[in-house]
Amino acid sequence: MIANVIRTFKKLDNKDFRVLTGIELGMKNFEWVPVEEVQKFTKYPYGALQNKFRLLMKDNLVIRTILPYEGYQIYFDGYDALALNTLVKRGTISAIGDEIGVGKESVVYEAIKEPELAMGKMTPVIIKFHREGRTSFTQVKRIREHLADKEHFSWIYAARLSAKREYEIMEMLYPEVSIPKPIDHNRHALVMAIAKGSLLAKTRLLKPEWFLHEIISQIRMTYSLGVIHADLSEYNIFVYECGVQFIDWPQYVNLDHPQADELLKRDVFNVLAFFKRKYGIEMDVDDVVSGIKDGI
Ligand SMILES: Nc1ncnc2c1ncn2[C@@H]1O[C@H](COP(=O)(O)OP(=O)(O)OP(=O)(O)O)[C@@H](O)[C@H]1O
Ligand SMILES: [Mg+2]
Repeated sequence: MIANVIRTFKKLDNKDFRVLTGIELGMKNFEWVPVEEVQKFTKYPYGALQNKFRLLMKDNLVIRTILPYEGYQIYFDGYDALALNTLVKRGTISAIGDEIGVGKESVVYEAIKEPELAMGKMTPVIIKFHREGRTSFTQVKRIREHLADKEHFSWIYAARLSAKREYEIMEMLYPEVSIPKPIDHNRHALVMAIAKGSLLAKTRLLKPEWFLHEIISQIRMTYSLGVIHADLSEYNIFVYECGVQFIDWPQYVNLDHPQADELLKRDVFNVLAFFKRKYGIEMDVDDVVSGIKDGI
């Protein structure tokens, strides 16, 4: 896991990253990237390369098969290391801190962002590593030989696509919709501002009506930009003194999605059900949905 990456990250040198990149590139064409491919890419002598492979395997950054030929695949930790390396080189982040959240399909860390100008301050930010496709990857390890041909791609591909999708929609919505500012993304990793306040699910609101109203107006603003969150609940909403912020966007849909109406209604239902359960506030789902659609 990432704790492993943080530990191993420091000892990785440019040559290790070159080997990892060679495997990453090779995985476009091979289920198991043959040693010769990595050798062609890195131009490292066979012995030195074998040494690198051995250490990378020991640190769980890559996995190997020896049949029908010697070949390598990148493991999640190796992919995390590649993304981190790129983000550090670009100057987006300079350090990674504590784990602050684990979702069904991600792991979220605090990180430190370099100042824009050399004189500025370091700011804490969030780095979210997408983990879509992870279950099937665990199976890869366990039942490698039973695997359908394209499954080995699924986790890299799914996780990367999902991070890109989330970054792009956040760029589109920010700042009109109240969300953490998107900062950068690479591979399956997304860097964004820390959401303000605390999770709605874990907060006792003193003025719940006001916050409910704020949430509905953010759903309306999102809708007016042609987007439905589609996974809204008290676990994806932050609340702070002056408002709310929505997080967790990869499953958003546009208004022309065949289930758009249903998904909007489900978002509204989730929010209203929470406010009813916890604060005894009752509002009619259909009324709220019509108000959102009419822009009022
Ligand atoms: N920008 C942020 N600021 C602060 N905390 C965050 C931020 N983004 C994510 N988190 C924390 O990480 C957790 C998981 O993030 P997120 O909901 O985006 O991931 P997920 O894997 O899609 O979750 P889910 O389990 O809802 O599918 C959140 O519940 C929250 O506690
Ligand atoms: Mg979530």
